Amino acid sequence: MNLVLFGAPGAGKGTQSERLVRELGMVQISTGDLFRAAIKNKTALGVQAQSYMDKGQLVPDSIVIGMVDEVLANLNGKSFILDGFPRNVAQAEALGKILSQRNLTIGKAIFLEVRKEDLLSRLTGRRVCKSCGAVYHVQSKPAKISGVCDQCGGEVIQRNDDKEDVIATRLKTYEESTEPLRGYYRSSGQYAEVNGAQDAELVFQSVKSLLK
Ligand code: AP5
Ligand code: MG
Ligand code: ZN
Repeated sequence: MNLVLFGAPGAGKGTQSERLVRELGMVQISTGDLFRAAIKNKTALGVQAQSYMDKGQLVPDSIVIGMVDEVLANLNGKSFILDGFPRNVAQAEALGKILSQRNLTIGKAIFLEVRKEDLLSRLTGRRVCKSCGAVYHVQSKPAKISGVCDQCGGEVIQRNDDKEDVIATRLKTYEESTEPLRGYYRSSGQYAEVNGAQDAELVFQSVKSLLK
């Protein structure tokens, strides 16, 4: 089954995707990770995306949609998780068209629910591996050796947009643009909700039970 995983910044989309990839062999399509890779490689796409990301704003739909379409074209039948896409109703509508052109479907759009108070400490304490993207947290999930990725030995750093002023814009952007997707997916019949405030392992069990 293919999934959309959505929720506020820090809700745990990346953390849950990482587990789905590891345990079920699904493919994670994180538009945020794709943009960060493009920035690192200094591609034209990266240059276009960076100024929006640094401010906590959405990258324009036309850029994101084209990028996702290209990834979906090269999946070779593997089940996938869309992490962070769609992020507004226009993107959800575009996704619907792309999927039907490619004879693909989304089984569930799972919303990870976490209160705003919890999101802030998750985001300010988050650290990520520069090489493989593994997600850590200074308190709840520190790397075994500080600054070094447990999984690949890469450098563990803080994301540029995990600064308090940018986080505030990201949360506002989420409320204005992404929250309305809950209603969109409710009416499409694909909506499911998971309590994202539980321990990450319990969240994973809930997500997995929705795949049956
Ligand atoms: P993106 O990279 O998608 O960022 P985001 O949506 O802000 O989400 P995050 O990655 O911050 O959070 P997450 O839900 O993955 O949480 P995580 O698992 O890391 O997008 C970045 C930017 O790219 C956007 O601002 C935009 O500019 C652009 N962009 C991306 N997609 C776009 C699109 N479709 N359209 C336009 N622009 C787009 O967890 C967070 C922390 O919490 C970690 O430290 C983790 O260890 C901890 N944690 C996770 N789960 C738990 C738990 N259950 N209990 C305790 N702690 C937990
Ligand atoms: Mg993420
Ligand atoms: Zn790593």
